[in-house]
Amino acid sequence: MSFMPWSDVFVLGIDSIDTQHRWLVEATNRLHDQIESQELEYGVVREILEGLADYTMNHFILEEELFARLNYPESDTHIEEHNAFTHKTIDLLLCFERGEEAVDEDILEFLQAWLVHHILQVDKAYVSFLKANGVN
Ligand SMILES: [Fe+2]
Ligand SMILES: [Fe+2]
Repeated sequence: MSFMPWSDVFVLGIDSIDTQHRWLVEATNRLHDQIESQELEYGVVREILEGLADYTMNHFILEEELFARLNYPESDTHIEEHNAFTHKTIDLLLCFERGEEAVDEDILEFLQAWLVHHILQVDKAYVSFLKANGVN
């Protein structure tokens, strides 16, 4: 059983976005497995954190480009959430690299809670708008 099993509740019905959300959930699971493992490897944790920060930014760009192109009315508040999360993940990575922060259960729970909240509420809110504008 993974830490954060992917489930149909996360599926928004827009393929490109669903694929990226799934990748983010799976990266959270990889991070969890690495932290739980007896042979925790610094390099692997760093790689997963880097991947998460990187991939998240690309994912946000995809969503934000759609918002801009289609004039999504909730764009500003949505982007604010993206920016706060981007800062948090970069901060996490930098603190980890400096040895100031261990990646622990609290961080995993933060990632999980953020993804669940953001996908199920904030992202879900754009689905009908995007679909009505021909995105699928
Ligand atoms: Fe989003
Ligand atoms: Fe998203």
